[in-house]
Amino acid sequence: MKRILVVGSAGQIGAELTPALRKIYGESNVVASDINSNCNPVLKQGPFEVLDALDDKHLHTIVQTHKIDTIFNLVALLSAKGEKDPQLSIKVNLGALNNILEVARQEHCAVFTPSSIGAFGPGTPADNTPQDTIQRPNTIYGVTKVAGELLCDYYFKRFGVDTRGLRFPGIISNVQLPGGGTTDYAVEIYYEAIKNKKYTCYLKEGTFLDMMYMPDAINAAIGVMEADPSKLLHRNAFNVTAMSFDPEMLSDSIKKLIPDFSMDYSIDPVKQSIADSWPNSMDDSSARNEWGWNPEYNLDKMSADMIDILSKKLLS
Ligand code: SER
Repeated sequence: MKRILVVGSAGQIGAELTPALRKIYGESNVVASDINSNCNPVLKQGPFEVLDALDDKHLHTIVQTHKIDTIFNLVALLSAKGEKDPQLSIKVNLGALNNILEVARQEHCAVFTPSSIGAFGPGTPADNTPQDTIQRPNTIYGVTKVAGELLCDYYFKRFGVDTRGLRFPGIISNVQLPGGGTTDYAVEIYYEAIKNKKYTCYLKEGTFLDMMYMPDAINAAIGVMEADPSKLLHRNAFNVTAMSFDPEMLSDSIKKLIPDFSMDYSIDPVKQSIADSWPNSMDDSSARNEWGWNPEYNLDKMSADMIDILSKKLLS
């Protein structure tokens, strides 16, 4: 039986991954932790620890006390927020990962760390972006993600730490808002469509990016950690995607269900240039072949679920 610690459990992914892990592995076997004690009460239905991931001693104590064998590291400042404070981005994104890998080495834990489409840059082939290709990102977020991938590979090869990761695309969800990413428009648009029937998009028409609905992201994180290690040719990190769309396609999908929805544009140059440096669509065949990655949600299926759930949440 796994004994899991989720670090950063109050964030966009953690808020849904933690309950999903508890359902599979048992409530008492999944310890939620976050720097923010004032978080979604769902996280406190099982063991919960207030933890600043930069406090390596406290992290080590929690891992020992709860006899943890698997750590999900979900601590990160996203891309747009990172550009506002690059030093903080380095400190948080790499500091947390470094602490987690060191504790994992000493306590023999497996480690899951998300990488991102942000680990690619303007020199990367943008269409059908291969698993193994040029990674020279020009955002601090991307720099920390590439460094993180390399650090995870290093800990696996040098110390045998079972590190695994995914290059997540933009993740769309209806529980916890993302915190300052370039792909956040694809979440905001649903909230605005339901509340106000209109949305002003900060990315240009024709800006294609990979995206994924949260239930698939959760399955991907759990799936890669459950994968048979003998089948893994890659580890840090697998390209995974579920769909690629631009703002117009997303707007059209929403209009099928909210016909009077309309969208206009006011371009944010920082976010636009980040988006322009990322892939249009990734090739995720390594994930499919090595551990059976297979997403369930396409754009319209996701829109139907998002609008159904958010309408109940926002309009009742
Ligand atoms: N969603 C992230 C961002 O936009 C990409 O991994 O920063």
